[in-house]
Amino acid sequence: MIITDRIINILRQGKPQEQIKIQGWVRTKRELKDFAFIEINDGSSLANLQVILNQDLPNYEGIIKRLNTGSSLTVEGILVESPAKGQKVELNANFIEIFGDCDPETYPLQKKRHSFEFLRTIGHLRGRTNTIGAVMRVRNACANAVHQFFQNKGFLWVHTPIIAASDCEGAGELFTVTNLNLEEISANKTGKIDYTNDFFGRQAYLTVSGQLEAEIMSMAFQNVYTFGPTFRAENSNTSRHLAEFWMVEPEMAFCDIEGDQNLAEEFLKYVFKYVLDNCPEDLEFFQQRINKTVLDNAENIINNEFARITYTEAISLLEKSDQKFEYNVEWGIDLQSEHERYLAEKLFKKPVIVTNYPKDIKAFYMRLNDDQKTVAAMDILAPNIGEIIGGSQREERLDILELRIAELNINPENLWWYLDLRRYGTVPHAGFGLGFERLVQFMTGMENIRDVIPFPRTPMNVEF
Ligand code: 4AD
Ligand code: MG
Repeated sequence: MIITDRIINILRQGKPQEQIKIQGWVRTKRELKDFAFIEINDGSSLANLQVILNQDLPNYEGIIKRLNTGSSLTVEGILVESPAKGQKVELNANFIEIFGDCDPETYPLQKKRHSFEFLRTIGHLRGRTNTIGAVMRVRNACANAVHQFFQNKGFLWVHTPIIAASDCEGAGELFTVTNLNLEEISANKTGKIDYTNDFFGRQAYLTVSGQLEAEIMSMAFQNVYTFGPTFRAENSNTSRHLAEFWMVEPEMAFCDIEGDQNLAEEFLKYVFKYVLDNCPEDLEFFQQRINKTVLDNAENIINNEFARITYTEAISLLEKSDQKFEYNVEWGIDLQSEHERYLAEKLFKKPVIVTNYPKDIKAFYMRLNDDQKTVAAMDILAPNIGEIIGGSQREERLDILELRIAELNINPENLWWYLDLRRYGTVPHAGFGLGFERLVQFMTGMENIRDVIPFPRTPMNVEF
């Protein structure tokens, strides 16, 4: 029996005279006088496998007519040394089975460059293009690296819920989860909605972060991480925001803001190294076709220490710069994307960890510093991206946490369990959240976040 192999293995290890079988989709066809070339891609690699079809194949004419770009097939044959540049072997076909034809008149992926905007309108087919294919393989490698990194360190992967009753970030960007009959409600116009009749007996949401539950788990297992989808109903149509995105959130007991920064830096270095080692062809492709800084950027991340500054230092650096910013800079402002990118791209030319932000611009759970004005927060700002990681040491002191919750007008009843953790064996602890798509953007140089997730969810867009 001939074993079906993936094209990546054949291109890396295939030897002349081996009998092999592959399955995939035709990328291109070239007909010559008495034979034809087709290029097959099976999603395992950027490169295609070249297949030679000789006239002596049974039903040669009929097969050639059907093998248009996009059609699907099995090919069996013998590997031969390839005279063509850039490939060691090609496949001399002796058996072809076609599964699905593909009409060249209507198939949208013809052999030309398509814009990413256009490709987003054919989300069901765009995975068959070079760029989206490379993105998805790099994304997969990043995910693998995330698990390896934390598993090697003995972190427990905890599965935090997607449906939650609290707003972790307090930004009010929540999607409600309901099974109330919305048509009836709007028809009755009774004013306030009575969520006690809803599925959970109260208002519930899609989670914006698994952090609060990760904190619970870290109070039993010390070091944990979550890796899953999170949701934000923020109506910002930018190249860095999605309504549904994946977040990696480690949480460590007996850890302070310093340890948190160290872990985040080590983590990013590990993931970059892993992808460089495991997806060299794909990264080379991004370097050539998407952004000339991809490989330098990866080396820079792996080999240089990140810059570390406080928020107050960041503000004074921004005030001193000659760059004209759209948003005014003064102590107390939330850093805007233009500020973040100036610091990372222009000034330091590498990732910058900014710590100790004003408490008024950060979430309720961050640990209050002794100055009473700032909290032990840390954001990592990356060149071309801006904020890629947001984290903090958590407020482990019950009395101070209660004051902060009151100050921010949050209903403490919803957080009784969170407060309980500070009553029963509280410890200093810290963690962070990495936006997984921003990491993939950072790694590949892709401009738009919609092109680094298979099925982007953004305002007015939930196709596929
Ligand atoms: O800074 P954020 O809001 O922090 C948290 O959610 C914390 N609970 C994390 C923690 O400490 N466990 O979000 C973390 C990261 C951001 O730095 C950014 O990379 C990404 O999530 N992010 C988004 N990515 C894509 N689309 C959005 N709308 C995003 N909002 C945040
Ligand atoms: Mg943040």
